Amino acid sequence: MRYGQGLLEEILRRTDLVQLVGRRVKLVRKGRVMWGCCPFHKEKSPSFKVENERRTYKCFGCGKGGDAFKWLMETEGLSFPEAVERLAGEAGVELPKWTADDEAREAQKKSLYDIVELACQFYEAQLREPVGRATRDYLATRGLGEAVARQFRLGYAPQGNALIEHLKTKNVTLDDMVAAGLARPSEDNRGPRDFFFNRVTFAISDPRGRVIAFGARALDPDAKPKYINTGETTLFSKGQLLYNFATSRPAAIKAQSIVVAEGYMDVIALVRAGFEAAVAPLGTALTEDQLHLLWRSAPEPILCFDGDDAGQRAAHRAAHLALAHLKPGYSLRFAFLPAGEDPDSFLRANGTPAMKKILDAAEPLALVLWRAETEGKDFSTPERRAGLERTLAEIVGRIQDSKIADYYRRDFEQRVFDTFKRRQFKPRDETGYRGKETRRGMPSQLHGRAPLAPVSAALKNSVLARTHQAGARRMKEMELAELLFAWPEIALRHGEVLAALSFQDRVLDRLRHELLNLAASGFKLEKAGLENHLVRVGLADLVDRLKGRRGPGGIGADAVLEGTGGSADGEDFEAHWLSAVAQLRQITELDLERVRAVERFKSEATEENWLEARRLLGPSNE
Ligand code: UTP
Ligand code: MN
Repeated sequence: MRYGQGLLEEILRRTDLVQLVGRRVKLVRKGRVMWGCCPFHKEKSPSFKVENERRTYKCFGCGKGGDAFKWLMETEGLSFPEAVERLAGEAGVELPKWTADDEAREAQKKSLYDIVELACQFYEAQLREPVGRATRDYLATRGLGEAVARQFRLGYAPQGNALIEHLKTKNVTLDDMVAAGLARPSEDNRGPRDFFFNRVTFAISDPRGRVIAFGARALDPDAKPKYINTGETTLFSKGQLLYNFATSRPAAIKAQSIVVAEGYMDVIALVRAGFEAAVAPLGTALTEDQLHLLWRSAPEPILCFDGDDAGQRAAHRAAHLALAHLKPGYSLRFAFLPAGEDPDSFLRANGTPAMKKILDAAEPLALVLWRAETEGKDFSTPERRAGLERTLAEIVGRIQDSKIADYYRRDFEQRVFDTFKRRQFKPRDETGYRGKETRRGMPSQLHGRAPLAPVSAALKNSVLARTHQAGARRMKEMELAELLFAWPEIALRHGEVLAALSFQDRVLDRLRHELLNLAASGFKLEKAGLENHLVRVGLADLVDRLKGRRGPGGIGADAVLEGTGGSADGEDFEAHWLSAVAQLRQITELDLERVRAVERFKSEATEENWLEARRLLGPSNE
């Protein structure tokens, strides 16, 4: 089924959108726009508007919007062809059986695309006319000559209603000019007026390279706002597009990288400096849709920000947006320019190699999130450090992909540990409170006992034997926890190892977490203190479990004690603990292998994959 753009527009033109939407939503007129409560989300005050002139509806609350077809698809669940048929019927537009004649007639009708293209050519031509002289001079001061103007289809929108007059001579109706976002609807019966005037225009294309809208910079330095762009139309929705996306795509895919700047001028400067894969959002903060567009081109787009506070805040916002949408292999990186610079000004002052250095040094998302929460902050009290932990946990909580969330949690734990282990309570500024040196790295004979015999071979064997039984992972975790409980000093000596671990048993993982916190905050890690602490934070049951000699999986600390005649020392615990860690890692690896094998089988159900999955799942399936 195929309908030409001209026919679809004909249907939209004949559809009274206000009336159509009005069947479901109570609308109230304000000026030439109708407002109502959005049917797509719950609200009490109206933020949903319908405009017959633009043939669009839009909710400022939830962002839903579109034309009459979209409306029926969204509210009645129709497919696109069904929506077309329904509206064609209501509007009395006969859906043609397609003949060659029909094709030809359709092709002759001007679609909105054609109209915007006509406008683009008009603006481009004006730039070369005498009337465009001042604009050419202005562009020249910014280093942009004729060739660049052609490449980016820059233009000049003159004073007055020049575009409207021009399009009239091309038989474009005023309605269509408004629908294309090129003319402002009539106000107070003064007649429609040009949307852009006395501005440099930047052609905005859709992902297929068709011009669908414009950005425009004021020439008058006092004009406010400095930049404007086409409002929402059936062709253009600014949050769903990126400037220069279509043109930069091949370069981005080839290089597997793409740079995101803030403005039109920055993109042009980047491309001219050889960074062909450069795009910009269109006057708004990066949106979810734009993020997905970027990921269609490169796995780790680099967002470029001004190094000032506003730039840091913008980066922070983008980072938080990305969190919820992260998927394995896809992330963002962040490049910060010196304060007050954008890529355009930076390139002018410092040249391409300097820019390349900045892009190469782009920071990963996890680091930017961490810095945003810690930089310049004072963590000299336990409450503040706990606050940081909570904030980081919230950040991880926003990651929807569970594997990535797991990695982030570990990454943050590691950072917390690294930052606080030497009691540097101010991550950057070390002038704050510093406690006495920790015992890290000192001999482990805390209780003054003499070293005793190492863990017996019999014990090792019994542990190994159990490892191969069902529930191996659970037992290994319990064993590690028991050892930690009996000898908390391990957490201090092997914090990095502990931070990189992860226990599937939630309660045991909380123990791990508490130990890391305590180690990081310089808490004197000894058994009685730890026990009290655990009871205080609501882990009394766990304490009982760990103390219960014959509790489930109770083979760790007690066994070490037994194996050494009841008087093991730190080194025994430590050696035993490290070997248990290695075993847990092996079990984890095996788990991962199983998951991968199952995934392989799910995506490609061959006999070979099935056998492999069964082999891995078989013997020690829990
Ligand atoms: P800037 O004000 O940083 O502009 O806005 P710029 O790109 O450095 O512009 P020049 O160098 O003075 O020409 C960055 C981007 O923010 C949007 C535009 O997309 C602009 O390119 N913007 C800015 C607006 O949408 N409206 C404005 O009034 C200003
Ligand atoms: Mn600039």
